[in-house]
Amino acid sequence: MNTKSKKHLFKPCFLLPLLILICSNGFAQNTLISEMEELKWEKVMPGIWKASFGEMGLNPIDYANEPKIDAIKALGDAPFPFDQNASRSLLTPNRANVRLPLRETEQIYGLGLEFEGINRRREVYTLKVDHYGGIKGYTHAPVPFYISSEGYGVLINSSKRVKVHVGVGNRKDSSLPERIDRTTGKNWPARPLSDAVEASVEGDGMEIYVFAGKTTLEVVQRYNLFFGGGIIPPKWGLGFWHRMHTKSSDQDVLQEIQDFEDRDFPLDVIGLEPGWQSFAYPCSFDWDSTRFPNPEKFVQTLNQKGIKVNLWENPYVAPVSTMYKDISPFTGSHTVWLGEVPDYTIPEAQQVLLKHHQKNHLSIGVSGYKFDEVDGYDVWLWPDHATFPSGNDAVEIRQLYGMMMMDMFDRHFKEQNQRTYNLIRSAYIGASNHNFVLYSDHYDHEGYVTALANSSLSGLLWTPEIRSANSAEEWIRRFQTVSFSPLMMLNAWSSGKKPWSFPEVTDLVRNTIELRMKLLPYLYTAFYEYNQKGIPPFRAMVLESGFITQETLTGGELDDAKNPYAEQKRLEVTDQYMMGPSILVAPVFTGQVERSVVLPKGNWYDFYTGEYAGNGETITIKTKLEEIPLFVKDGGIIPMLTTLDKKSDQTLEVRLYGSKENTFLLYNDDGVSYDYERGEFSLIELKTTRDRKGQLSGISKTLKSHKSSYGTIVWRWMKVPQ
Ligand code: GAL
Repeated sequence: MNTKSKKHLFKPCFLLPLLILICSNGFAQNTLISEMEELKWEKVMPGIWKASFGEMGLNPIDYANEPKIDAIKALGDAPFPFDQNASRSLLTPNRANVRLPLRETEQIYGLGLEFEGINRRREVYTLKVDHYGGIKGYTHAPVPFYISSEGYGVLINSSKRVKVHVGVGNRKDSSLPERIDRTTGKNWPARPLSDAVEASVEGDGMEIYVFAGKTTLEVVQRYNLFFGGGIIPPKWGLGFWHRMHTKSSDQDVLQEIQDFEDRDFPLDVIGLEPGWQSFAYPCSFDWDSTRFPNPEKFVQTLNQKGIKVNLWENPYVAPVSTMYKDISPFTGSHTVWLGEVPDYTIPEAQQVLLKHHQKNHLSIGVSGYKFDEVDGYDVWLWPDHATFPSGNDAVEIRQLYGMMMMDMFDRHFKEQNQRTYNLIRSAYIGASNHNFVLYSDHYDHEGYVTALANSSLSGLLWTPEIRSANSAEEWIRRFQTVSFSPLMMLNAWSSGKKPWSFPEVTDLVRNTIELRMKLLPYLYTAFYEYNQKGIPPFRAMVLESGFITQETLTGGELDDAKNPYAEQKRLEVTDQYMMGPSILVAPVFTGQVERSVVLPKGNWYDFYTGEYAGNGETITIKTKLEEIPLFVKDGGIIPMLTTLDKKSDQTLEVRLYGSKENTFLLYNDDGVSYDYERGEFSLIELKTTRDRKGQLSGISKTLKSHKSSYGTIVWRWMKVPQ
């Protein structure tokens, strides 16, 4: 959404009189909950309501896309999901505050990209765009949207840093749990149960949106659809990405490509790191003439081989840049690494950047970017007191910087009817319709898997990229995880590693990449569902029906050194997730000879053998170095390519699991343009039905023909006699 008009205009309401009531003894009175302003909810679409109070600065929603109204309508209407009377707002001299009800049994998920935990209850988050770490909520994508296990979601729409108390912080006048004496009582809680989510910003107001849903997944769908649904990446984006060492030259790249070919490794995208530029940190955005003397010929050579080029950059402009003179009038008071910081809330500044990039990169065939350092640490980035020529607040500009970059480039690519897939290190509200995937410097394999699950709760895509490893085992384990993620990438910017850097596992690495690529018809269709219905292609288990989400707390023994407040720990499943409608992915970490997998209700089958694995239970499996554990839901229909040869007729093997009748709507299109939005795509219905003897058979029916359609279909029944 780039025009400022729209639905998001807020209606100020004036609450201050309550606050300035000074009583006779000279102290300001506390405002009671009953005296706080009741939020006035206005229905904006079926199952979506909005309330606002006070005034806000930049509106984050201006950098998201337009709602998919028909798809939202198709989800149907729903009643307002909680007690409206219990939703209150308060403006204090420095903060805008909101209080929303929370029931004892409710669990809360979301709040953006996090590397730890899925459940957010009993925590405090300071949602600040940051290079991750230290404080809860300081992360690449601190999205102020939470989902309740009771089937609704709340978005605090503000470009300020939102501080959220999720069921902690008990007001005197709220409903309080029983008080327990710590000396004599059992179960004294360090965090007594509170009956609210309380959130505030340092600012003068906010908007709040509520999204209903019969399930947590439907809540996420409404949220994503409200911002245009998800993206469908170009097909090349779902292939293999290799980022070169930062000092690489054009000749090094050509040699590397040859090495990929010689070793029979798929390669779809080459990423160039800082060294492609004549100056970096801050950036010139201009090609380095010694390492890349003829960029046009270089990019075209790669494109002719079917390989795309992606360029790294951070936003900070070096004086040697050819765009410096034009952008400098639109930059802020402070520098980052001595480079100037463009104020992209100003349309002219956007034009300078787009014009420069179109001329120097995109017009010669560059496919997209990796926008680094749009999050940053305080010690690197501009301070909160920096000023910008637009007059917009430095805190808000930082919170929205990544969104502004995504929105500006997405619009530019779309104008050329060209799809793109990129990387970025910060995102915020309503990012699902942006063609960008998040990544991090934080390199923890287990945290990466948790982030993969969490990202689905906030309209984000995340790549657990590989950089290096301490052993061949770690190498293959990380490769297996990244092969089952939105963007499969080796980022060798500093390590200079190649997929074959650990020869003991080279074949296994190739196999896992190839398996991912053969699953393209399944995965591409999952992205179509993301686009049309808002269903994330990679999902946290809490979005899966039949998955038990009750809170389990454990431990809580007093330990003077480690646990002086005898706090309990939450047991939860953070190391598995769903891919597409029916595959459960359970990555293995270095050293794990076995692992447990929590199977939701319903029958589940081993992807590789078709063997029955369990139903609504926790199973323990022995790990195999050559396989990432994958389980398929009963009735799972998995269309796969039989060969990666792009010139083949695209024969499909359609695997069938279990014994349930099912339907899979297989999607395809040209893979590169936005023509699909004008109906240029194919749809094949893959259906399993039971005959009179009880035998299941597969039937395919073309529902919408188009030149992109697949070739012959070969059914493969994976059922193993029991
Ligand atoms: C980091 C980024 C890495 C790499 C590096 C290049 O900030 O996270 O992926 O691009 O910069 O200097």
